[in-house]
Amino acid sequence: MRKIVKKSKVGDGVWEYELEAPLIAEASDPGQFVILRLHEKGERIPLTIADTSLEEGTITIVVQSAGKSTIELNQEYFEGEAIHDLAGPLGNPSEIEDYGTVALIGGGVGIALIYPIARALREAGNHVISIIGAQSADKLFFQDRIAEVSDEVIVTTDDGSAGREGFTSDALRDLLESENVEKSWAIGPVMMMKVCQEVAEEFDTELIVSLNTIMVDGTGMCGGCRVNINGETRFACVDGPEFPGSAVDFDLLAQRTEIYEEEEECALDEFLEGESK
Ligand SMILES: Cc1cc2nc3c(=O)[nH]c(=O)nc-3n(C[C@H](O)[C@H](O)[C@H](O)COP(=O)(O)OP(=O)(O)OC[C@H]3O[C@@H](n4cnc5c(N)ncnc54)[C@H](O)[C@@H]3O)c2cc1C
Ligand code: FES
Repeated sequence: MRKIVKKSKVGDGVWEYELEAPLIAEASDPGQFVILRLHEKGERIPLTIADTSLEEGTITIVVQSAGKSTIELNQEYFEGEAIHDLAGPLGNPSEIEDYGTVALIGGGVGIALIYPIARALREAGNHVISIIGAQSADKLFFQDRIAEVSDEVIVTTDDGSAGREGFTSDALRDLLESENVEKSWAIGPVMMMKVCQEVAEEFDTELIVSLNTIMVDGTGMCGGCRVNINGETRFACVDGPEFPGSAVDFDLLAQRTEIYEEEEECALDEFLEGESK
């Protein structure tokens, strides 16, 4: 059992948790993730380690309500309670070096996921420019924390209710027109990462994406997370989750994330029906 040491709402449908996990906190690096189970019959949810505290022996995760399990966690688990289990750290860490000027693009819950990478890149001496975006102002979060680890922050919202109106990829295009950016990371919805890669290609600059595939075991055994990288099958859990954007078949990735849509809807309906009884 893992205690929820702290829980707070950071945005519309987005909650931040500090979980007791001293060994994972010690062993993890930016870019890695955990797999969490709420209870014995719970499905396995992959979630990125957004922060760690060695002093407190905790890891921080940020969870967006997407379907049955994330809604169950956000609605029914509170500070002081415990979740059933946590496995990690999983996946490969981000490649942190002094590249010069780097851009970090975070969309939706991806804003939390770029935070540890931006911090590590800044500590390594890079000039860090972060672009964070959401549909609207109420869905933006972590602005202060991103500002603390960035030299510049550009905020975008689809509806213009905060920052500049438009998509993160529009801001990336403007940035690449005016700055010499050595390397970029984009983390967020598949479509956002795909369009950011198209923009990076226009400017012939390297972009890394972190793939949120469907995952089950997270250890390379089930094949649930398979992705097509440069025409070859790779497993996002053990070969990733970060890959060069130029190598990813985004259309296949988008198709694969939708294959269990019917089952996911059924599971959510059953959960919500149970709630209303
Ligand atoms: C390596 C990795 C790190 C992740 N980090 C975070 C994080 O830090 N915070 C966060 O909120 N989410 C993160 N995700 C996504 C999160 O795991 C899914 O949102 C969650 O598993 C959905 O489960 P559910 O039962 O709530 O929804 P479901 O009903 O299972 O699915 C709801 C919707 O989410 C999509 N989905 C299902 N599984 C995944 C998945 N593994 N990744 C992406 N979309 C999925 C489905 O296609 C569907 O559209 C991460 C995913 C991966 C692979
Ligand atoms: S999640 Fe099973 S192989 Fe990657």
